[in-house]
Amino acid sequence: MKIIKSTKELKNTLRKFRGKQIGFVPTMGALHKGHISLIEKSASENDITVVSIFVNATQFNNAEDLEKYPTQLNSDIKVLENQEIDYLFLPNFDELYPDNYKYKIEETELSKILCGVSRNGHFTGVLTVVMKLLNIVNPSKAYFGEKDYQQLLTIRRLVSDLDIPVRILTAPIMRE
Ligand code: PAF
Repeated sequence: MKIIKSTKELKNTLRKFRGKQIGFVPTMGALHKGHISLIEKSASENDITVVSIFVNATQFNNAEDLEKYPTQLNSDIKVLENQEIDYLFLPNFDELYPDNYKYKIEETELSKILCGVSRNGHFTGVLTVVMKLLNIVNPSKAYFGEKDYQQLLTIRRLVSDLDIPVRILTAPIMRE
């Protein structure tokens, strides 16, 4: 598993796998069994598997939640080293948001109900980062947990409504 922090380097590296099946599992770290089942699925269905860890500040509508979010990068890396992963993408905020979050993807229906009511801006942050990551990795298939069902639905609609050429797949999320 090679760790890549730069967007440009990841794009250049993945370019040589054009024509191969690339599976992508985006995460915010704090990995658990659910993530592993997505990674295993990706490894079994693709030639190359890319995982990202990026705690996406733009999807936290409250600074305290962001501060409280568990970061355990070293143990996450150890867990990932035992999986069939080719690349781990570890960007920082500036690498992923060179525009400082001026451009955003806003969904105006599904993201405004249920969890979206109390988490203003949450889905805009999720959809924006997912769109960016999909554009960088350009995977054939991307894997998301089905536990966050509203997130899964908005991502499915994002790729169909904005014509992003990727298949969105899922696996049941199991927590310890
Ligand atoms: O489900 C998550 O962990 C995050 O919302 C995601 C999809 C990685 C975007 O930051």
